[in-house]
Parts: sequence; C-alpha cells; structure tokens
Amino acid sequence: MDVVTDIDLFRQKIFAYYQLHRRSFPWRETRDRYAVMISEIMLQQTQAERVVQRFVMWLQYFPDVAHLASAPLKEVLALWSGLGYNSRAVRLHQCASIILDCYGGIVPSQPELLKKLPGIGEYTCRSIPVFADNVDLAAVDTNIRRIIIHEFNLPDDISACRLQEIAEAALPHGQSRDWHNALMDYGALELTSKKTGIRPLTKQSKFYGSKRWYRGQLVRELVHADVMFLEELEEKYADCPWNLSEIISDLIHDGLIETQARNNGVLKGFRIKGG
Ligand code: ADE
Repeated sequence: MDVVTDIDLFRQKIFAYYQLHRRSFPWRETRDRYAVMISEIMLQQTQAERVVQRFVMWLQYFPDVAHLASAPLKEVLALWSGLGYNSRAVRLHQCASIILDCYGGIVPSQPELLKKLPGIGEYTCRSIPVFADNVDLAAVDTNIRRIIIHEFNLPDDISACRLQEIAEAALPHGQSRDWHNALMDYGALELTSKKTGIRPLTKQSKFYGSKRWYRGQLVRELVHADVMFLEELEEKYADCPWNLSEIISDLIHDGLIETQARNNGVLKGFRIKGG
C-alpha cells in the first residue's frame, strides 16, 4: 500500500473513532488562546480528567493574561497544587508577564513567537494555534507520536523530524482542531501505551518518595507558610534520602522560592518567591 492510501485510511479510521467516542472537555468549548494555553500547559504529563477542575477554577481566578501576570506567585502555586511539576506554573506565570509586556496581553498565534516563551516547546507552540484557531499545523506529542509509529508500522527510534513530516502529510487541512482532538481521544482511549508497548521518550519514574516528590512537598509547605527555616524543614523531612539543601538550591534556581534571612542571617529561611 502506498503512503497516500495509508494516510486516507488512517484519516477515516481516526475520524470514525472520534464520531463514536469523542470526549468532552471544557477546553474544547473555548476559542480563547489564553485558555487553550493554560489547558495545554496543564495537560503536559497530567491526565486530562485530573486537569478539568483545575482548569475551570484557574479561569475563575485568572480569567486573562493581565490577571495572571499581576497575581503573586504564591497564589499561582496554590491554584496549581495537585497538578505536579510546579515549575510549569512558574513558567506560565513568567509567560503572562512577557505576553503582557510584549504583546499587549494577547497570546500570540504564531508558533515562532510562542516558542520563545518559557515552557513552550515544539508541541505546545503548535497545539495552541491548532486548538484555539484551527490553524493547519501538525502538533506531535507523546500520544500522537505513539499513534503514528503504530499505525504506520514505524521503528520506535524514528527521528522527531521524520515524525513531524508524516504528521504534516496526514493532517486534513481545514480540520486541524477536530483532527488533533480525534487523535488525542484515539491515543488516550484506544491505542494506549500499554496496548502498543511503545514507550514515551521520557518515561516518568516512580513519584512517591522521589526527589521530585520532596520538591513538591517543600513547595506545598511554603505555599501555606510565610517563611520556613532550614532547621524546621530538616527536622520535618529527616527521613528524606536526598540532601535537602540541594533540593532547596534547585528550587531557588528554578525561580520557585527565595531565601529570607532572619536574625541578621543567623537563621536561614525560605519563602515562595515574592512572598
Ligand atoms: N492533551 C493535550 N491536549 C489535549 C486536548 N486538547 N485534549 C485532550 N488531551 C490533551
């Protein structure tokens, strides 16, 4: 079978599945690029069902770029809590400031501009215009990668560049939004990673008790306190197998927390950046 026939069949199969099994999500009801950007960042490495409530609540608190940009980081992290990977919230907050300063508070639609923003990569710079504006671009995330590899019987180690070419050839022009939603549903419900044995490029390791888990615990702790001191944290997390000071340094480096010395620097305290 030549590739063109394959692609025709592939499209028919995906759309037929979508007709019967399409899922409904609040971010599929909006054309607001800011709202789509929030959903796409929240959906990175987090199951859609877990995102729904957070997404709705987020838009109530921060309905647009200006509201998000002017909110203290602490509030942003409090609303993010439960989604994991807090750095995503920090970068989203940074995105809002940049978009306010450089684009008058309007999320840009061009992938080249989106890609310059913190936390927006090859997939998200395309998925935002796809879902918000129905732009004819092919966005390849881990699910879509798995579908293409499986359906076209390709090797697991195919290059990102070749995958992108195939995704572009498969894209039905004028139906980009529906097409990507259909692929998402097919990948999540039918062609799961478990079924295909095709592993994502970045496999998540065990979370509970991991360094990342302790990072999350410290952030959660600080979201609820004005300031905490190293001694307090060391006592509370005495069983932490990682060096707490190292975790704290990483959090400072990633812009989540800052130091706050008390008693002329005798006590070493930390708080969420900006208080
Ligand atoms: N994951 C990333 N984007 C998504 C979307 N629009 N719908 C469902 N899952 C997604």
